[in-house]
Order: sequence, then C-alpha cells, then structure tokens
Amino acid sequence: MRSSEAIIVWGSLLVVVAAMFATVYWPVINIRDEPSDIWRPLQSQEEKGRLIYIANGCTYCHSQYIRPQDWGIGAERISQSGDYYRQIPHLLGSQRTGPDLSQEGGEHSDDWHRAHFINPRFTRPRSLMPAFAYIGEEGIESLIAYIQSLGGKDADQRMAVQNRFHEEAIAAWERGPDEHIRWLHSRVPQPWRIMPSETPATRASVARGEKVYQDYCIGCHGPVGDGAGPAAPYIYPPPVNFTTLRRHLIDGQYIGGILYYQIMNGITGTAMPYHKKDLESAKIWDVGNYIMVNFINVRDDRIPSAGIPVSYEGRHAKPVTKNPQPEPIQPGKGGVR
Ligand code: HEC
Ligand code: HEC
Repeated sequence: MRSSEAIIVWGSLLVVVAAMFATVYWPVINIRDEPSDIWRPLQSQEEKGRLIYIANGCTYCHSQYIRPQDWGIGAERISQSGDYYRQIPHLLGSQRTGPDLSQEGGEHSDDWHRAHFINPRFTRPRSLMPAFAYIGEEGIESLIAYIQSLGGKDADQRMAVQNRFHEEAIAAWERGPDEHIRWLHSRVPQPWRIMPSETPATRASVARGEKVYQDYCIGCHGPVGDGAGPAAPYIYPPPVNFTTLRRHLIDGQYIGGILYYQIMNGITGTAMPYHKKDLESAKIWDVGNYIMVNFINVRDDRIPSAGIPVSYEGRHAKPVTKNPQPEPIQPGKGGVR
C-alpha cells in the first residue's frame, strides 16, 4: 500500500482512538462503582484527619495503592477500585519517597504514630519525613485516627488486636516493673527462651550492632539503653530500660533468643515495632549482642555458632572486653520463670 495524506490522517486517528479506548474507556467500563470487601465509610474524626493529610501534602511522598509488583508494607493485598469507593479526591499519589500507606492501619500503635508525627526522627532516627508537631495535638489525633483507618475492615481487625494487647501491656506495666517484664517475657515461646545467641559477641558483631541500634532503636531506648530516648515522653508503656533487665533474665534462660524474638516481632499493642521487614537476621543477633554487652552486661554465646563461621572477621573476632568481664548466664538464680 502506498502512503497518502488520507492514510496518514486516518491511520493516526485510529492509533489515537485505539490508545484512548485501551487506557481510558476500557477501565471506565470495567471499574465497578461499588465498595470492595474491606471498604467502610470514614468516621468524622477520620475524615478530619484525611483533610489534614491532604492539606499537608502527605500524598507527595506517600502512595495509597498496591500494585501486583509491589513489595513492602501492606503488599499482601493488591488494591482494588472498590477500596477507593466515594473517595473524592482519591489519594493514590504518584510518588513513594515514603512507604505506601494503603494498609497502614494497625501496623503501629497510636503512641508510635504520636511520637512519629511530632518528630519522625524520634521513632526512626534516619527518617527524612518532615516533623508535623505544628499541626497541634488535636490535629495529630485526627491524623492518627485517619492513618489507623487505612486498610478499612482489615485495618479494624489489626486495630482490635493492637487495642487488646495495649490494655494488657498497660495493666502489666501498672502492676510494677517486675510484673511488666514478666508479662513481656510470657509472650516469648519456650523454644526461643532456651536459644543462645547464634552469633558470638565479637568486637565486630557488637560494632555492627551499635550501628543498627543507632539507626533503629536509640530514639526510644536511648543512648545508654535506659529507655529515655526523645520518643519516651510520648510513649506508654514506656520503652524498656535494658539496664534493669539483668535480674529478670538469669534463670537458665538464654537472653539471645528472647531478645531476638522480641526485636523480630515487636510488642503488639505497644510502640515497640516489629523489625522482621527491616532487619536481616544477622543484624538482629548483632543488635542483641550490643544490648547484652553494653546495657545488660551479660553474654550468652557459649555455644559455637552453627551458621557460617565468623572467621572472615579475622583479628576482630576476639571477644569484646569493653565491659569488665561480662558474665555468662548462671542457670538457676532468681528471675523470671
Ligand atoms: C518528604 C516526604 C514525606 C512527607 C511529606 C511525609 N512523609 Fe511520611 N514518611 C516519609 C518517609 C521517608 C518515611 C519512612 C521513614 C519513617 O518512618 O519516618 C515515612 C513514614 C511514614 C509513616 C510510617 C510508615 C510505617 O509504618 O513505617 C507514616 C504513617 C507516615 N509517613 C505518614 C505521613 C503523613 C500522615 C504525612 C503528612 C502529614 C507524611 N507522612 C508526610 C516521607 C514523607
Ligand atoms: C518507637 C519506640 C521503640 C523503638 C523504635 C524500639 N523500641 Fe524496643 N520497646 C519499646 C517499648 C515501648 C517496649 C516495651 C513494651 C512494653 O513495655 O510493653 C520495647 C521493648 C523492647 C524489648 C523487649 C525487652 C524484653 O525483655 O522483652 C526489646 C528486646 C527491645 N524493645 C529492643 C529494641 C531494639 C533492638 C530496637 C531497635 C532495633 C527497638 N527496641 C526499637 C519501644 C521501642
């Protein structure tokens, strides 16, 4: 076929119409204007929070939709059109400087969000998110209500779990520090309680652990591990004071496994976040070693590692001697049962 003006004009038109059909009309025909299985209407405080979210440009850094290729917070559920039923304007966003928030509800406790909104560096020391303290107390409470609603009915279910454990945690805390630690440890399954640290507390391991601690934990547990980081005033029950843990741990239990379990899973219902999506297991053992050697002043790495030998650490592989003789655990002395 020879090219002519008519063919060019009609041909181009055809391409444009086909493209419009595929990208505009086809989706419009297929989008069902009905709520999805997790959708629920927003309550008035949540709606107020949504307006604050819009006014403060949260959408410039946070999306609210999960695509099939996504991986990260909330990626277990791919977004459906019905999730945005009656959302005008919708807050899909096109930029992910921060994580997607479509399933954020119930990921953290309210007090984690409170400290985080006042200054994100309090709970995430390396965060670049701006501080929103200027929104004021009432505004922050509305924002928290909105964020905890993200994920609809799924978020409500997660919040119910958060609230149940929150009450338990507060009740335990108010029964006194010893009872509180006992409650905390009652959440650790037996196999983890008798698991020694898998990674020897070498100088290199403790140095790596210090870096992890500074990047993730220092805002709450504080530079000296006493639980008095800058987030502490906004958090209840407060961050654990590691320096008092020693008396609770010496009873034939291994600290490494307990710390590992708590750091990996967090303490649901409190501000203590889970780290299983942020930290590889080697980093969790390292930060546990750092806490043990520097704050609790014990070591429990008597059993040689079954993992890859740490010989690559070379001359740094000798045990740390910073603290005067950290003691191995003595089975059968006081503490938690
Ligand atoms: C300049 C970009 C930016 C802006 C603007 C911003 N954020 Fe963030 N946000 C981030 C980054 C980066 C993170 C990840 C680090 C952290 O947790 O602070 C984050 C994390 C979060 C998290 C925690 C997610 C999780 O579970 O780990 C929430 C909730 C959140 N932002 C809400 C908001 C809200 C609400 C606003 C508006 C009031 C907002 N953000 C504005 C960048 C931003
Ligand atoms: C947003 C604040 C916050 C951050 C960040 C945080 N924690 Fe916690 N952590 C807490 C709170 C609060 C508790 C106590 C919960 C309770 O009292 O019920 C806790 C409890 C713990 C416990 C349980 C202690 C025990 O004996 O069972 C460990 C271990 C722990 N945190 C380690 C860490 C480590 C390691 C990091 C960093 C990787 C970290 N935490 C980050 C707030 C935080």
